Amino acid sequence: MTGKSLTVSGLSAGYGGVPVVHGVDLSVAPGEVVALVGPNGGGKSTIMLTCSGLVKPLGGQIRLGDEVLNGKSPNELVGKGVVQVPEDRSLFYSLTVEENLRVASSAPPRVDAYDLFPELKRLRRRRSALLSGGEQQMLVMARALYCNPSILLVDEMSLGLAPLIVERLFDALRSLSAEFGIGVLVVEQHVHLALKHVERGYVMSGGRITAEGGAADLERRWPEIEASYLGVSA
Ligand SMILES: Nc1ncnc2c1ncn2[C@@H]1O[C@H](COP(=O)(O)OP(=O)(O)O)[C@@H](O)[C@H]1O
Ligand SMILES: [Mg+2]
Repeated sequence: MTGKSLTVSGLSAGYGGVPVVHGVDLSVAPGEVVALVGPNGGGKSTIMLTCSGLVKPLGGQIRLGDEVLNGKSPNELVGKGVVQVPEDRSLFYSLTVEENLRVASSAPPRVDAYDLFPELKRLRRRRSALLSGGEQQMLVMARALYCNPSILLVDEMSLGLAPLIVERLFDALRSLSAEFGIGVLVVEQHVHLALKHVERGYVMSGGRITAEGGAADLERRWPEIEASYLGVSA
């Protein structure tokens, strides 16, 4: 498939007309996994919500390939392949794994969720309320795949999960991205774990990108990067 890059340029966004994100530039190309990290309240989720149409941009541009996405509704964006895996792991808890997937798919998906997460196959008749946190997160991610994303926006998939499971989820994101040319932007609190699994990253604090680069480079510079934002917020 021929994927398209997501390009965010000079983006400002916020709530009630008050910007909390200021002039952010970032991009995600097909087939790469990119991390967005930084302290709480830095504006990471606001970027994700703006890219998925849930928060309106106050300035700047969001593009998929050459097409400007500003002002499009979340539904239109999903139709164009920009799909968010939200922070709150919302599922239909009274429905089974299989039913949750069936509700999500309008067309046959390009990616077979059970190939990606064989764990879910043996649980397919279990009600999603009875899954572990890690299994629920797999299901939320699997469901997003049924929208045939070309760009996947994943916010804090690791909340409350054991590091081993988070590693498993990162592996899944990487194989998705490599195999199907999906561009993945992932917000992650576990910075070192994220930098082990992604190609590039951006650091956000105070609503701005304060550092960016290859994962190994960011890892090496991390003490200095962290000190700079701890200094600012102190
Ligand atoms: N719904 C909202 N209404 C008003 N302010 C918000 C809302 N959501 C987030 N904020 C504020 O926007 C800033 C950035 O938050 P957020 O994007 O959630 O950061 P992060 O995801 O990096 O923790 C914070 O100051 C936060 O308090
Ligand atoms: Mg957040």
